Order: sequence, then C-alpha cells, then structure tokens
Amino acid sequence: MAAAEGTLLLLTVLIPLQVSILFGVLHAQQEYLNNRQLNCSNSDSITRGFACNATSDQPSCQSYLTFRSADPSYANLATIAYLLNSDAVLMTTLNNLTDVQAIPAGTPIIVPANCSCFGELYQHNATYILKAVGETYYSIAYYTYQGLSTCQALQDQNLYKATNLTVGESVLVPLRCACPTSAQSGEAIRYLLTYLVASGDTLSGIAELFGVTLQSVLDANRLTIDSVIYPLNPILVPLTKEPTKIILPATPSPPPSSATSPATTGSSSSKKWIFIGVGIGLAVVLIIAAAAFCYRTRKGRKMEEQVLPASAPPPKKASEPSATEDHSALLKDSSSWSGSGFREAIHSLTIYKYEELQRATGSFAEGNKIRGSVYRGSFKGDTAAVKVVRGDVSGEINILKLINHMNIVRLSGFCLYEGNSYLVYEYAENGSLSDWLHGEDPQATLSWKQRIQIAYNIADAINYLHNYVNPPYIHKNLKSSNVLLDADFKAKVSNFGLARSVDGEDGGGLQLTRHVIGTQGYMAPEYIEDGVITKKMDIFAFGVVMLELLSGREAARGQSKDREELLSTAISRVLEGDNVRDKLRGFMDVSMRNEYPLDLAFSTAGVARRCVEYDMNSRPSMEEVLMALTKIFSSSTDWDPSSNELSP
Ligand SMILES: *[C@@H]1O[C@H](CO)[C@@H](O)[C@H](O)[C@H]1NC(C)=O
Ligand SMILES: *[C@@H]1O[C@H](CO)[C@@H](O)[C@H](O)[C@H]1NC(C)=O
Ligand SMILES: *[C@@H]1O[C@H](CO)[C@@H](O)[C@H](O)[C@H]1NC(C)=O
Ligand SMILES: *[C@@H]1O[C@H](CO)[C@@H](O)[C@H](O)[C@H]1NC(C)=O
Ligand SMILES: *[C@@H]1O[C@H](CO)[C@@H](O)[C@H](O)[C@H]1NC(C)=O
Ligand SMILES: *[C@@H]1O[C@H](CO)[C@@H](O)[C@H](O)[C@H]1NC(C)=O
Repeated sequence: MAAAEGTLLLLTVLIPLQVSILFGVLHAQQEYLNNRQLNCSNSDSITRGFACNATSDQPSCQSYLTFRSADPSYANLATIAYLLNSDAVLMTTLNNLTDVQAIPAGTPIIVPANCSCFGELYQHNATYILKAVGETYYSIAYYTYQGLSTCQALQDQNLYKATNLTVGESVLVPLRCACPTSAQSGEAIRYLLTYLVASGDTLSGIAELFGVTLQSVLDANRLTIDSVIYPLNPILVPLTKEPTKIILPATPSPPPSSATSPATTGSSSSKKWIFIGVGIGLAVVLIIAAAAFCYRTRKGRKMEEQVLPASAPPPKKASEPSATEDHSALLKDSSSWSGSGFREAIHSLTIYKYEELQRATGSFAEGNKIRGSVYRGSFKGDTAAVKVVRGDVSGEINILKLINHMNIVRLSGFCLYEGNSYLVYEYAENGSLSDWLHGEDPQATLSWKQRIQIAYNIADAINYLHNYVNPPYIHKNLKSSNVLLDADFKAKVSNFGLARSVDGEDGGGLQLTRHVIGTQGYMAPEYIEDGVITKKMDIFAFGVVMLELLSGREAARGQSKDREELLSTAISRVLEGDNVRDKLRGFMDVSMRNEYPLDLAFSTAGVARRCVEYDMNSRPSMEEVLMALTKIFSSSTDWDPSSNELSP
C-alpha cells in the first residue's frame, strides 16, 4: 500500500474517531490510545498510562494483562512471568499450562498483575535488563513488551536518556493496567484486563473471547461501534470474574481485501466485524514516522536486534520506508516472525522451588561451594551445580534450553527467588580446565591425549554454536575457567551469560558495542579496540585456550598491569625465526614431562597461532579449526607415549 493511500485512509479513519471520542466521554472510563503513543515526543498523559486521578478511583487492585508468546525468548510461562514481573504459579492455573511448556507463537496468555496508582496514573512495575546494543525505549515498549508499555512511560520513569542505553542496565517498565471505576464497580465489574490486540481482532471478537458484552468493552475504552482498533494499542476488557484460559476461535480468517474498503461505515449491524486491517495504512504511516523519530541510529552500528513492533515487517525494511515496499507482511499473524523448528529442540527445564535448592546445597553451605557463587547440590542422589546470579539470566536460560550438545554444559533447571536467579547445571566431576592447567595442585596434570581431546571438544561445541544453531551464537566469553571437565575429561563449555546471537547467512553479521567486557588475554584486538563482535572473537579466545593447553601458562601474566605477557603474542615469537622446534619445546608445559609428539604439538601450535592472528580476517573459521584438530586428534590416539619421538 502506498504512503499516499495511507494518508488518505488516515483522514477517513480519524474523522469518525474524533467524533466518537467526544461522544463516548459521557459514560466513558479510560481513553483509547489511538496510536498516539507511537510518536515518542507526544506527551499526552494517556500515552503514559491509564488515569487514576479521580478521588473515587481505587489506589490499587488485582488486574490482568495479556501477552503473546513470541520468539523463543518468551515462549513459556516462566520467562513471560519474569519479563512481566508476575507470578508463574498463578499463571499456570489461569492458562492451564505448565510453566516450562513451549507455547505456540502468538497464543495469548493471561498474566495477573498487581496494579497501583502512582501519581495520576495506574501502572504495574516490571524491570527489564537491557540485553543488546541498539535497544531503545521504542523497541522495549513495542517489541519486547508488545505495547504493554510506551516510550513515553519509559522515558518518564527512567533516568537514562533515550539515546544512551547500555547493555546490562536495568530499566523500570511501567505496564499499562487499570482498576475498575466506581461506575464499573456498580456494574459488578471486578477486574480490568489489558488485552493486546492482534491483526484480525475485532471488538466484538474480543468481547466474545472473554464472554462480556460488546457495549461494556466499548464503554471501558471510550470507543463506539464504528471505532477502528490497532495493534500495539491495548484494549481494556471489563471482567466480572477471574479470566480463564483464552481459547482462540479456530483460525481467524484474514480480513478479505478489507484493507481498502473500510468495514466501519455504512452497515447498521451491531455484530459488525471491524477489521483492524482497515487501520493498517494509518499504522504504517505512524510507525514509520515514530520510527524516524525514536530511532537514533548509532553511527556505524548494525541495528539488527532493534525489531519493529510485532505487526511490522522486519526492521531492516521498516527503517527505510519506500513506496514500493510490500506491507502485506503487516497482515501476517505474529507466528510468521518468530523462529520455527527451533523450539522443538527445547528440552524441559525444571523450575525448582527455593526450598529444594536450600535442601540440595545444605543452605548454600561453605563446604558445598565449588567456586565463586557456584555450589554443589544433591538432587535425589544426583549431583548438580547451582549457580547463584544476581538479576536477570533469561539470556543464558534461553540459549541453553535450545542447545543440546555433548560438549556444552546442560542446564537442567532454574529458580527465581528474591531478585536472584539460581541456575542448576549438570555437574562436571573434574572441575574447570583452568584449575587443571594453572591450579595449585602439582599432581593435577593432563596428558597430551587429554589435552587434544579437550581442544577438540571445545572446537566441536563452538562449531555447533557458530554453524548449527539457528540463529547462530557467539559465546563471547570463552576461556579455560569456562571449560568444565567431566569424569572422562571430556570438555563442556559453560557460562553463556554474555553469549549473543548473530544473524545473516555468513554469520559474519558485524555488531558493535561500547560495553567491552571480558578477560584480559582472551579478548580479540578488534573487540578491545572497536567493540567489534563477530564469530572471530570466539576463534581468537579458542586459540588462546589451545595455547594454554600446550604451554600450561596463563592467557596473560606479567609483573605489572601494563607489562603483561600475552600468550597470543608469545606464540609468534616461538614460531618465527630459527630453532622453531627447540623454542616450541621450551614453550610446552613442563608438567607433560616431554611426553607428547612434537610434530603434532607443532601442528597444534600452528593452528592456535592462526586463531590468534591480529587481523580477524586471517583467522580460520571454526569449521577449519575443527577439521585440523580432527586430524591431530586421531593421530594422537595412535600415538604411543612409550615410543616417544623426542628421544633422539
Ligand atoms: C509528534 O508529537 C509532537 C508533539 O506533540 C508533534 O510536534 C509532532 O508533529 C508529532 N510528530 C508526528 C510525526 O506526528
Ligand atoms: C484526570 O487527569 C486527566 C488527564 O490528565 C484530566 O483530563 C482529568 O480531568 C483529570 N480528572 C480529575 C478528576 O482530576
Ligand atoms: C487443561 O489441559 C488439559 C490437557 O492439556 C485438558 O485435558 C484439560 O481439560 C484442560 N482443562 C481446562 C479447564 O481447560
Ligand atoms: C499481588 O500482591 C499480593 C500481595 O502483595 C501477592 O500475594 C500476589 O502474589 C501479587 N500478585 C502478583 C501477580 O504478583
Ligand atoms: C513502581 O515504580 C515507581 C517508580 O519507581 C515507584 O514509585 C512505585 O512505588 C512502584 N510501585 C510499586 C507497587 O512497587
Ligand atoms: C551515558 O550513560 C553513562 C552511564 O549510564 C554515563 O556515564 C554517561 O555520562 C551517559 N552519557 C550521556 C551523554 O548522557
């Protein structure tokens, strides 16, 4: 649909709407947003929340929100409850689902929310931790929270400037909710439910969905029978009793060519179906205008994570509006933009009760501490590791629940309790690789075969993340302390707290960050210098881990902070110039007591050196590394330490 047509539609739609708003005020309850929130500089009070300034208004009440399970990040009750600061247990009953059951994309979920009057507006507070570069108040309100909040409300209640959001910061997200007015209470209305409108919804359809009268819905939102409703503009549904699981009517048929013929005029039928498709033209104009307004594209950054609202086409298209653009995507239901196939991989996660974790870890006894904030726990005889993390770990949960790889530590469940997250992992009997390489215990030493197996396992895991998961992931924090060893010294990559997804076919999708975090010695130069995030940063870190395996030295060590010797630079000196073999022998870990095949050590060092090349484009891909290591690994299994080729 061309922009001009959209503008025309805007007029035909707006005029009756204005009239209707004036008309509806008499027995009105809350005003309808009518897309005003999409212009982030529009500061009408309704854009920030529903009003509670009348003296008769209740200061707080039980209310309900709806949310649609979307991308794999929010596809079960536990993650939705966390996002919306609700109670997962209550949600399981209301929705007749278990808390980890994967919910088909687009399914509306009922979310109980305590609603209270703050200043002159009702709100339910949620907290969101910024996850990705490029997130804005706009993307948080209309993409992550699907329109349950607005950019105005976020701007109003957070100190951060809209243009200065940093990954890791937490944002207060005021969610739209409301309590019944005295007039509504008089009609036995006990709760208001904030319903998220989806493409194809009609007011009468919504009323039917909740078994209430169309008139009560119209009144609650100051709408009339002729009003047009839009996605991202929540509708209040007045309820006389607790809501129950929403059961969508069998496949709502898409609006038949209604986009150009408004169904809102002419007919006198009270059962009129008002397709929101009618309003799409207007929505497009507003979304694009708002996008232009709210998106401060940070120079040189690829905005891949900044996705437009659920109803909009993918972000890359939306940010460059053109007359020829195909807006038909707007009519697709929300399932079209979330990954598919992917979800099948989700294995079930157990949601633990805090008491269970206390029991398993002896109330987090010092004696059960493995390291840092990781405790050993015994669950019905099985040992597991329990990691305590302050704040939101949904990122790590979301990655690990999708991944099923022998060499990636398995997350078996989690628990959210008093602001802390507790992650329960499979237990790795032999602890971390760094303890074996750099630990205090001189008896703890790894043989050549074990070392090569470990390198091979890690390469296998990273290759899986880079090339076999959709979307691919970058671990971003690979180091020997994040590699765990099981009873057979098979390696398991752990700690996905910083991992992030990349898209694009080649996966080279360049991302940038100002928030450079990592461990000295493992961080690739382009990441330290320019915040460049690509798969090649994992390759670099992997090269460093290989060098640790060869030399037993730490990634960075030195007398003082600014005179540190990095393994990644040391290897060039070893492999350059004359007497390379002698220098390599000097470099190798003495705890192997010369029991290694020098030729294979030489090949391995060569692979590692390519991985830590300064220029990221000179580094091999993980596939190449894995192939090289496969050969070295199989040659190593044939190698017999007694026939040590080192002996002259
Ligand atoms: C957004 O709102 C501001 C303030 O009300 C107004 O000046 C501006 O014209 C609006 N922008 C659009 C694109 O409607
Ligand atoms: C409440 O606030 C709205 C918007 O700010 C205003 O229009 C309305 O008159 C106020 N009502 C009362 C009773 O103060
Ligand atoms: C809840 O779901 C189960 C199966 O998933 C079904 O058998 C049961 O009837 C449902 N209960 C309600 C109240 O819908
Ligand atoms: C609402 O508040 C009550 C009491 O403070 C609490 O018991 C209940 O769990 C809260 N509900 C939600 C959904 O958080
Ligand atoms: C919600 O957040 C606001 C702003 O921080 C705060 O003043 C208010 O007390 C919070 N409401 C609840 C119910 O915690
Ligand atoms: C951006 O935020 C950071 C920390 O949140 C702050 O130190 C910095 O001064 C802010 N920059 C601007 C331009 O506001």
